[in-house]
Parts: sequence; C-alpha cells; structure tokens
Amino acid sequence: MIIKPPPRGGFLVSTTCCVALKSPTVTALQKADSIRARKGGRPVTALTAYDYPTARLLDEAGIDILLVGDSLGMVVLGFPDTTHVTLDHMLHHVAAVARATPKALIVGDLPIHTYETPTQALETARRLVAAGAEAVKLEGGIRQAEKVRAITEAGIPVMGHLGMLPQRVLEEGGYRKKGKTPEQTEALREGAQALIDAGVFSIVLESIIPETARLLTAALTVPTIGIGCGDQTCDGEVAVITDLLGSFPWFVPPFATPEADLAAATRTAVARYILRVRGA
Ligand code: KIV
Repeated sequence: MIIKPPPRGGFLVSTTCCVALKSPTVTALQKADSIRARKGGRPVTALTAYDYPTARLLDEAGIDILLVGDSLGMVVLGFPDTTHVTLDHMLHHVAAVARATPKALIVGDLPIHTYETPTQALETARRLVAAGAEAVKLEGGIRQAEKVRAITEAGIPVMGHLGMLPQRVLEEGGYRKKGKTPEQTEALREGAQALIDAGVFSIVLESIIPETARLLTAALTVPTIGIGCGDQTCDGEVAVITDLLGSFPWFVPPFATPEADLAAATRTAVARYILRVRGA
C-alpha cells in the first residue's frame, strides 16, 4: 500500500484502497468551524498576508486568520484599487502564504469578475484552494447567495463581506460609510442572513457605522469581523497588515491604528546602508 503525504500537512491518504482515511479539506472545515464557534466568545483576530515571511511571522504570533485579500492590488502591486486584481495575482500570493503552512486559517479573496455565476464562483474557489487557500471570501449579500451556496456545498468554507465593498468603489465613486439609515441597516441584515443561509462561517463588516455594526453583530449567528466599524462592535477584527505595521505610508485609512512604523525603520536602515557602502 502506498501512503502519500498530503499536499500541505494534515492527513494521510491511501492511494490503493480508494478510501481516504481523512481528506485534507477536513482540516480547513475544522478550522472554519472553530472560527464559527467563536460567535460571542473570544474575539477572532485576522490580518492580511500576501507573502511567506509575513504569513510565518503572523502565524507564530498566534493570529487566527490569514486573509490573502485583494487589497494586495493596492498595498503590494501598486494599483489604485482592487478592481485591477486578477485570479493569477491571487493564486501567486495564496501559494506563497500557504508555503508557510500556518496553523491559522488561510482565506483567499475571489477577485472581481471571477464569480459572476455560481459555476464560475465554484471554479475560482477550487483554483484558490488548489493554490493553498483553505477558505474563500467574496463581496456582497443577497445577489451572491447562490454562489456562496455552490461553494459551501462543494465543501469549501466561505467568508462573507458586507458594508463598503472595495470591488465596487468605482461604481460608488469612493469609500463611504454604510449602515447610516434604517433602510441600509435592514438591507445589510437581509444580505447577511442570505449569506448565513447559504453557509458562510463568518462575515467581514467593512466601514459600517458602529451602532449598526453592533446591531448586526447581536442579530447574526456567525461571527462578524469588523474593519473600520469602531472598537469592539464585532466578534473580531481584521486589519490590512501594512496599516498595522506602518509600511505603506502613502495612504493610511482614517480608521487604521498603526502599531509600528516600518516605513521610517526602512528609510533609516537604507540610509545607513548607503552611507556604509559609500564608506562615509
Ligand atoms: O482585501 C482585503 O484586505 C479585505 C479586507 C479589507 C477585509 O477584504
């Protein structure tokens, strides 16, 4: 009997008897289930990561979720917004993060135009999983529910994303706060419920005013993971790693709380290097 090692850690699969002792996806589902079970409990911590060393450092520090977000387009690839990100970009960076074999759940964003139909959404999700993602995230509510269902029914965990949707920034003409009126709040709640019914294990809430984020968090049965929604309004938080580390000084969102200044540290180190090499 030949026993092959699984693609990334996890479980052994027999190739002769056609009986999978345990499929590698069990690990991903278990990780997603353990995040889902944190509703109302210990806050969920999530950060974006786009490369191997960052993924290793964040994982060693004990982060729960590594999000290979399509913010990649802005803070790594130098595009003005996320609408330029392609599936090939995402696959390249998901694979780099996956090589760190983190304990944290690796979530990969479905980039714009890669989930227009349930069939396309599932195909894109499968490609991200083949690259090393353990779960995927997509933007939107009711109109995405069938796509989410197609992916979750195939055994791939899905994270929702509501509120400000960066992939729609051009249609919306900028980044605006959401959930300011009772109508908007109700639409967000209905969207979230449609996502939950379709099987999401958690939902990112982006740039929703704190009162509404709190209301949604109280009403929903899966963890809400906030960004730009105020402090302690959600079941967890996600931040873009460059905002946390101060390594992208050209644009810092107003809600970001940097914990370091890597831009300054980099400038100082490079200036010292130049002086040393010049013998000055
Ligand atoms: O792409 C990303 O980094 C995200 C976060 C802002 C949640 O979607």
